[in-house]
Amino acid sequence: MCGIVGYIGNKEAYPILIKGLKRLEYRGYDSAGIALIDGNMTIFKKAGKVNDLETIVDPDKIAATIGIGHTRWATHGEPNDRNAHPHLSNSGDLAIIHNGIIENYSSIKEELTKRGYKFHSDTDTEVLVNLIEEVQKTEKTTLDNAVRIALNEVVGAYAIVILNLKNPDQLVAARKGSPLVIGIGDDEFYIASDASPIIEYTKNVVYLDDQEYAVINRDGNYSIRTLGNVEKSHEIQKLEFSLELIEKGGFEHFMLKEIYEQPKAIEDSLRGRMSASQGWIKLGGLNEYINRIDNADRFIITACGTSWHSSLIGEYLIEDLARIPVEVEYASEFRYRNPIIKETDVVIAISQSGETADTLAAIDLAKDRQALIYGICNVIGSSIARASHAGSYTHAGPEIGVASTKAFSTQISIITLIALQIAVVKGTIPTSKFREILYELENISSKIEETLALDAQIKEIAAIYKDATNFLYLGRGYNFPVALEGALKLKEISYIHAEGYPAAEMKHGPIALIDENMPVVFLATNKSAYDKIVSNVQEVKARKGRIIAVVHKGDTQIRALADHIIEVPETEEILSPLITIVPLQLLAYHIAIMRGCNVDQPRNLAKSVTVE
Ligand code: M6R
Repeated sequence: MCGIVGYIGNKEAYPILIKGLKRLEYRGYDSAGIALIDGNMTIFKKAGKVNDLETIVDPDKIAATIGIGHTRWATHGEPNDRNAHPHLSNSGDLAIIHNGIIENYSSIKEELTKRGYKFHSDTDTEVLVNLIEEVQKTEKTTLDNAVRIALNEVVGAYAIVILNLKNPDQLVAARKGSPLVIGIGDDEFYIASDASPIIEYTKNVVYLDDQEYAVINRDGNYSIRTLGNVEKSHEIQKLEFSLELIEKGGFEHFMLKEIYEQPKAIEDSLRGRMSASQGWIKLGGLNEYINRIDNADRFIITACGTSWHSSLIGEYLIEDLARIPVEVEYASEFRYRNPIIKETDVVIAISQSGETADTLAAIDLAKDRQALIYGICNVIGSSIARASHAGSYTHAGPEIGVASTKAFSTQISIITLIALQIAVVKGTIPTSKFREILYELENISSKIEETLALDAQIKEIAAIYKDATNFLYLGRGYNFPVALEGALKLKEISYIHAEGYPAAEMKHGPIALIDENMPVVFLATNKSAYDKIVSNVQEVKARKGRIIAVVHKGDTQIRALADHIIEVPETEEILSPLITIVPLQLLAYHIAIMRGCNVDQPRNLAKSVTVE
């Protein structure tokens, strides 16, 4: 949560910072602010979005070539102007931006207050910048050394960048638990929470590791040290995505663009990792630990939100195909409930951002207990990717809409490959079936294209139900996690209450909710439980519920019962989530737009949840 950006070089900093903040706004949009040094320290900050910040700045009056910027997802203190970052130290010399939480801020604040410090916000961040100032004063040391000493006293997570009025030719940055990347240009540097504000200017980046800080100088030099004061040298990495990928490319919203990108994203996630005609799967990360993985007693899959839903599909796939027991755990619960984890377990952590704090903490716990950690992440170089022993990137490309879409489908693609690869080695599925599934997987993108072509019809359905106050999503088997995901998509972007349930579970309670005002979305593509679903549809119909059913092309039975049917192409049942999720994403998108909601930046949310 929170996006941070910094610049030092020969260009004007303000436009770079503002553009960077707009790219990072998906991380939080409660307030935005910038600090610049142009002789004086100047701070502009405002509750609301980056556009609101722009209204209080006259760019013609700024000529600074060093600055920092922040877009906030509020943790400590209301989202108002006062709590917006950057925060100044009491002397006015230091300005800080921070992503994370300082857990022991209140005892530090008490101590600083005793020493005469005054606080003008409710944030933990203002406490940190004053702690740094106090260390600098008492130790009579450089800013970077004071940062190092202060951070050794701090408990919590942070990515910070500090601007020092006394040294306008230097930025100091540090991280622990929150991401930070340094872009290296020609005699200029960019710092940001992710590479999106940097890609336009340079492809050369260095990722800071946890417990490291960087001193970045205008003369083109930078150095990295650990908080233990050991010098580090990181290899410069090349960014692989292009600017185009983080722009809307003609779509009105990132979410819609990302829904439409799914066929390509899935192809990218499979490329070079399988061949149906030659009958192989090669997942680099898997091969390295293949013995340990094939002989695992159990898989535990841990994740949050949408990634938790794809984990559930992973459970079905791995148990179904590879016959290895799987448990799926909300990362936030797993880390605190003293779970049994053995050395022979393989823990798969799934995360689009690779920065989700709960998932990272779950990994740490499982690592302590000697389990093998396999990360499935989208963001290259992310904390979860680096904390894992092995793993596979989903290669979905940047996902900017807060509602996860293409990340979900590519996570499923990867976990399908994992399940299939283990299954074929263990001999738990016949080779002929293995080949059939691979062929179908190769063909799945064209079926998703066909499903996307139903957009106009789905928009019409959305117009009918846009004012509903509740929705139920029901599915069985592989479509049950899809029902959960469909409900999550609707509630997070349209603010309509929605619940996903296993279709048969409806009769144990939710059926009481059904009346003529309740839209019920059925996912009814399963061949294996078709008759059972038909019965569930009938139960809803008998209670006058409004039925929207996603069915296979040519379905007749449910057509006769449903108010609306969405006919999708048939596929292998185990791959059906890749298709059935698409109409649900589109339905949520259109309903949210018709209700006037901001689909890319829904209220109270942030793309990457780097706090507990
Ligand atoms: O980056 P991650 O996949 O770890 O994020 C997990 C959740 O925060 C995320 O999926 C969230 O639920 C999305 N807003 C869902 O659309």
